[in-house]
Amino acid sequence: MLFDKFTNDAVTFANHIVMAPMTRCRADHSDAVPNDLIVDYYRQRAGAGMIISEGVPVSDRARGYIGTAALWNDAQAAGWKKVNDAVHAAGGIIFAQLWHCGRVAHSALHADGSLPAGVSNIAAKLTKTFIIDADGKPTMADCEAPIALSTAEVQGVVKDFGAAAALAKRAGFDGIEIHGANGYLLDQFRCPVLNDRTDQYGGSLENRYRFLLEVVDACASVYEPGRIAVRQSPYGTFNDMIPDPEPLVTYPYLARELARREIGFLHIFDQSFSWIHDATHPLLPALRAAYQGALIACGNFDRARSEAILARGQADLIAIGRPFIANPDLVARLQANASLTPWDDATFYAGGAKGYTDYPALAG
Ligand SMILES: Cc1cc2nc3c(=O)[nH]c(=O)nc-3n(C[C@H](O)[C@H](O)[C@H](O)COP(=O)(O)O)c2cc1C
Repeated sequence: MLFDKFTNDAVTFANHIVMAPMTRCRADHSDAVPNDLIVDYYRQRAGAGMIISEGVPVSDRARGYIGTAALWNDAQAAGWKKVNDAVHAAGGIIFAQLWHCGRVAHSALHADGSLPAGVSNIAAKLTKTFIIDADGKPTMADCEAPIALSTAEVQGVVKDFGAAAALAKRAGFDGIEIHGANGYLLDQFRCPVLNDRTDQYGGSLENRYRFLLEVVDACASVYEPGRIAVRQSPYGTFNDMIPDPEPLVTYPYLARELARREIGFLHIFDQSFSWIHDATHPLLPALRAAYQGALIACGNFDRARSEAILARGQADLIAIGRPFIANPDLVARLQANASLTPWDDATFYAGGAKGYTDYPALAG
């Protein structure tokens, strides 16, 4: 099953393995346009059933790290078109992961020097980001305290996502994933501790998910719903987040809202690499009951664990991250039970071709 075709009404993937979204920081920060190195990187990985791109900021203020290839202007869309054409020529499928970092950011990353945008003014403590210092050198820095978005500004960000989806379509992406996970802006709105708002985007669960669902609706006016994914990280603590106090209420609520809109994919990332592999854990069955689209599971999956979760019917697709960094032909290797090259985390977020496009394929 893992190596068989997947299909819904809108798209067909050659297999059930998704390349998980991974920020690699190989673009020039000044224009955030995908370059030839980035084209090569994705072309090499076109054997995935579907690639989800690295997080793609939807505006300048959405940026939280240096060198993230973005999607708010025509030049960036033209750069992504080269990526997408290369992936398609190699027989692959690619979705863009649309991203707003929110409070996980620093004013040095923004062209106008604006402070990070927040659900509230609460800072992400002990969370570092990667910036360019006053001497032009890359360096780690604490995230700055954000400024809470006004109600009108939240609606402006919804429009930014819609505009980015339109650019994604023009650039030839086969679909999009909305990054609602890992403590970034949309996840910050979900969080009942960080979200102290009194407008229609704060308070009840419905209100805290209103922003994400308005983003979904804006994107669904561009892409058919079967080409849209939403990513969540239940129980997540990355970026100074507090795990949701009612996960069996919160995430099934979202799943029902996505089902109502016939959204194609709900992507669940277990940051702890634990509960998602526990056949008796109640969350995936609760999501399954609430949602008719495809569930994507992510978090330390190898071939055996992928086959196990598919066999017990708790997921429909498996997203794999780090092994794809070091094994461009990962699907072929898993299918052949071939050995895997280990990844080097020193080159995850920096460097040029080293640790990016120089990992060999099995036959190469
Ligand atoms: C270098 C790196 C960059 C990542 N960037 C993103 C990102 O941009 N968006 C996102 O949702 N997750 C991101 N993640 C998380 C991965 O999508 C994935 O969930 C994680 O690596 C766990 O999967 P794995 O165990 O198969 O690697 C990143 C992970 C790594 C290692």
